[in-house]
Amino acid sequence: MSSDPALFRFRLSDQYQQVKNNFHRHLIQQIEERNLDLDDWDAARIERFVSDAVKRYVVEQRLPINQRESEALAKDAKDELMGFGPIQGLVDDETVNDIVVNGPDRIFVEREGRLQVAPVRFFNNAHVVRVIQRILAPIGRRIDESNPMVDARLPDGSRVNAIIPPIALDGPCISIRKFRKSALTAEDLVRYGSVSREALDYLKHRVTHRTNLIVVGGTGSGKTTFLNLLSQWIPPGERILTVEDAAELRLEHEHVVRLETRPPNLEGERAVTARDLVRNALRMRPDRIIVGEVRGDEVLDMLQAMNTGHDGSMTTIHANSTHDAVHRLELLAGFAGYNGSEVAFRAQVASAIQLLVHVARLPGGQRRLMSITEVVGAKGHDLILRDVFRYDVESGQHRDLRGSAL
Ligand SMILES: Nc1ncnc2c1ncn2[C@@H]1O[C@H](COP(=O)(O)OP(=O)(O)OP(=O)(O)O)[C@@H](O)[C@H]1O
Ligand SMILES: [Mg+2]
Repeated sequence: MSSDPALFRFRLSDQYQQVKNNFHRHLIQQIEERNLDLDDWDAARIERFVSDAVKRYVVEQRLPINQRESEALAKDAKDELMGFGPIQGLVDDETVNDIVVNGPDRIFVEREGRLQVAPVRFFNNAHVVRVIQRILAPIGRRIDESNPMVDARLPDGSRVNAIIPPIALDGPCISIRKFRKSALTAEDLVRYGSVSREALDYLKHRVTHRTNLIVVGGTGSGKTTFLNLLSQWIPPGERILTVEDAAELRLEHEHVVRLETRPPNLEGERAVTARDLVRNALRMRPDRIIVGEVRGDEVLDMLQAMNTGHDGSMTTIHANSTHDAVHRLELLAGFAGYNGSEVAFRAQVASAIQLLVHVARLPGGQRRLMSITEVVGAKGHDLILRDVFRYDVESGQHRDLRGSAL
């Protein structure tokens, strides 16, 4: 996309949106009248067709727009016809990680960990919904009033969530987490200052020696990225079973079996839950089990697996601190029907999990490994936790606490 500010302003203006909308209708009309089947055309032919049509349209309508503006119109019209409309350019832009659409004219992207306003907009709510349908159609899903939320994975591995009014009060929303062509490596994370080399070496040692661990963090804090990184240190030759809601982990091991949950169908049936899959995974002779995120009743099966010989199993949990993570485990266990005492549960957690790895997204967007915390044991209602590494936000220092009295 051009970085010319005048062209940006032009593209965002109401007048241009109106022109674009009218031209789109004009194009559709042409296609219908001439009975054209664009599915049979290659991209170059479609591009030519649209750009010829723009030239004629600009003359016919006496539109006061210059060459570059009419080129922009041709590109936007083509994206509208064939792609995901206003956000196609963002989808194609490799520097963009996340795209969020909060209604027709509030669109943001995340680049290098920072959220910024994207210089594009939709015409109106209906336009956003049209693009959502277009995103979902090839994967056989749809969104409508009776089914106003969709969570899906695109063929390229990107994740999409869409939610529309009346549930979404400020207009239809889309969130796209693009699948990186290559996963972030340990070197990348050190270079970004996310983690110190010493901490990585420590984690590598713990993973090879089959420590059970949980990566803890808020939304988009880098949990999955970290889990992926840790998993790569599992020695080759071990048999790994992964359970995820959307297969995001990328392991290069020979013995990997990947399992993915399935949402219920329209009648609310035939769901395959993470709990079903963890239970099944246990019957598949795994050395280690990796669960993308514990968020439901699979928590009990996972803890049990960790306690019964699947050392080196790993998962992530949504929580903002290591203490929160323990509370959340307890909460999930309660929902899952755990009816033992709190003390017994803590003891079970303490023997199942040896390490908590807390990651966070700082207000500026940078991801940091906040702490690596050992679960030393349980004492009554409390777990005894000890930080081995800690990031100090004030000084921006990664601290190695091994050998310190704390
Ligand atoms: N250390 C890092 N430095 C820069 N970008 C990162 C880092 N870790 C993760 N990211 C990027 O941040 C985004 C979110 O990462 P990730 O999916 O791992 O987070 P998450 O906590 O699993 O998110 P969710 O809560 O949605 O499951 C991705 O685009 C990822 O590439
Ligand atoms: Mg994740």
